[in-house]
Amino acid sequence: MSTASSIESVLTEHRVFPVPEDFQAQASIAGLAQYQALVNEADTDYTAYWAKLAREKLQWTTGFTQTLDDTKAPFYKWFADGELNVSENCLDKHLGTPTEHKTALIFEADDGVVTKLSFRQLYHQVCQFANGLTALGYKVGDRALIYMPMSVQAVVAMQACARLGVTHSVVFGGFSSKSLHERAVDVGASLIITADEQRRGGRSIALKPAVDEAIALGGCDAVRHVIVYARTGAEQAWHDGRDIWWDAVVDGQAMECAPVAVNAEHPLFVLYTSGSTGKPKGVQHSSAGYLLGALLSVQWTFDAKDDDVFWCTADIGWITGHTFITYGPLAAGLTQVVFEGVPTYPNAGRFWEMIQRHQVSIFYTAPTAIRSLTKAAENTPECHPRHYNLSSLRLLGSVGEPINPEAWMWYYENVGLERCPIVDTWWQTETGGHVITPLPGVTPLKPGSCGFAFPGMDVAIVDEAGEEVERGKGGFLVIRKPWPNMIRNIWGDPERFVKSYFPAELNGYYLAGDGAQRDQDGYFWVMGRIDDVLNVSGHRMGTMEVESALVAHELVTEAAVVGRPDATTGEAVVAFVVLSGDVPAGDEAKRIATELRNWVAKEIGPIAKPKEIRFGENLPKTRSGKIMRRLLRFVANGEAITQDVSTLENPAILEQLSDAY
Ligand code: WT7
Repeated sequence: MSTASSIESVLTEHRVFPVPEDFQAQASIAGLAQYQALVNEADTDYTAYWAKLAREKLQWTTGFTQTLDDTKAPFYKWFADGELNVSENCLDKHLGTPTEHKTALIFEADDGVVTKLSFRQLYHQVCQFANGLTALGYKVGDRALIYMPMSVQAVVAMQACARLGVTHSVVFGGFSSKSLHERAVDVGASLIITADEQRRGGRSIALKPAVDEAIALGGCDAVRHVIVYARTGAEQAWHDGRDIWWDAVVDGQAMECAPVAVNAEHPLFVLYTSGSTGKPKGVQHSSAGYLLGALLSVQWTFDAKDDDVFWCTADIGWITGHTFITYGPLAAGLTQVVFEGVPTYPNAGRFWEMIQRHQVSIFYTAPTAIRSLTKAAENTPECHPRHYNLSSLRLLGSVGEPINPEAWMWYYENVGLERCPIVDTWWQTETGGHVITPLPGVTPLKPGSCGFAFPGMDVAIVDEAGEEVERGKGGFLVIRKPWPNMIRNIWGDPERFVKSYFPAELNGYYLAGDGAQRDQDGYFWVMGRIDDVLNVSGHRMGTMEVESALVAHELVTEAAVVGRPDATTGEAVVAFVVLSGDVPAGDEAKRIATELRNWVAKEIGPIAKPKEIRFGENLPKTRSGKIMRRLLRFVANGEAITQDVSTLENPAILEQLSDAY
């Protein structure tokens, strides 16, 4: 849990930035009184509050009569007797309105080539691809794995699945064939949609070969087709009858495709995320409730207006890319930028140049990107944002991990030019949309704080017994009432769902797994994970996952992984490893460390690579054999261990591991 020092460090932040008057005047939620009115409405009768919004914001094929079914709590159902189609709510809804011919996607490729699609054009592409899927026999209830680069086609694939009621599971293109395999098997995918390669930073990275490798690992017998979008045209090994080019799927298909109405609770997608133990959790989201949360987050937090140009830099492989690329902005009828590449190619001015080129007005990125671009702007002054015209910006967002006040100030001054509010949005894969966030027309900003609860969200900080703690005291962040866009289940593992998120001691509250506190003004300050979950560059990673990968290497008998604060990535992975042979030293240690780092990259993906590996004879353990990761965290940070370690099985090992440093 949080330490006293981290609580103090956030309390030293006293700067407050008032809401700009002109911003408030035009905001979707304009001023405290409007915010308070929504909060009061939700407090009075939260099911009525959500029912009203669901009727107002979504188009229903069959209206619902029951708002919340909590008879099987925590397996909540929202709007359960209603039917709709999510893709219809993102695309068809705009046909016949002025939005029909508005630009939906501005796609910028790694090499700078720009492709624009109107809502109508996107609608046709989605329809054609959906018709192609139907022709191949895919239908409501099937599961499709999507392993694609950032592309128009990735959005089309997700939307086409939604249109047919095919549940999608997007796997981040940076994940290895092993990770892909694990997810394909767990979700029972009958279809995989991929590309030959992706382009990032001027390089090509293979995707289809990883799919072949994953299938070759066995257990994916349900997979009938692999659809391959030809991004680069690289030569491919081909499995006749199974593999099929994207173009062949859409060729000759009609441009219209009736959306399949599904139940409000139908699983729109399953997205895997890390937990503290075992394999990744397949977070299952609903259709109607999820979409409502996505749309409200775009409209309220991002104050979306018709003439905005929105840009969320996340990958579609993460929840941020689902909610703030594929679903929210389209449902809101926003023009948005979709970017294939990386922020540092061809140079570290890429983001600023793109904001200028596409006249981006709302920009949403992660603290890790801000920190690395801050550093880049120092090292290569020509890439500093001051060299670009960023006057189109009116609102900035941050997500993924706590943003340190220094990075916040740099973002505010150099990107937002002290004009743009910053919304530091706290949420999770499981929450589907924003939970705690400033609202730009309401909340005076405190750098490093994510503000107040999103209207309708009942957020609190409690102790081990579920009692709310006093202001200024740290505790567990919980959500006390169910909300429409909450996680519905862990795919195939309802027990783990209950155990992970609704522990018995907490009165049925949703346990987020983060430590937090509120200051005297009621602002929330999130301090990070309370479980053994790392947050590297804004992405969750279980210590277990990295440890399992290390132990799978033939040289390794035991491994423990901890996080260490890192100036760029937020947290860096530090691994303590016991080899089957002697403890290596010098060049030998370096060589094995490199080998293990590459191994982890192959097993999980490059983002899981340990930044540092230390070798020892064994690991610090309790007498019952539990690895003391908490102590290893001190060692990794070069901090003195002040607590009594005499109860350890092998206290001397701590010194060996520290010396090794
Ligand atoms: C975890 C969720 C939400 C999309 C990206 C990550 C951390 C996220 C913030 C923030 C402090 C944050 C939390 C959370 N986190 N946003 N604004 N301030 N911490 O989704 O992979 O499900 O991770 O990211 O620790 O629990 P995710």
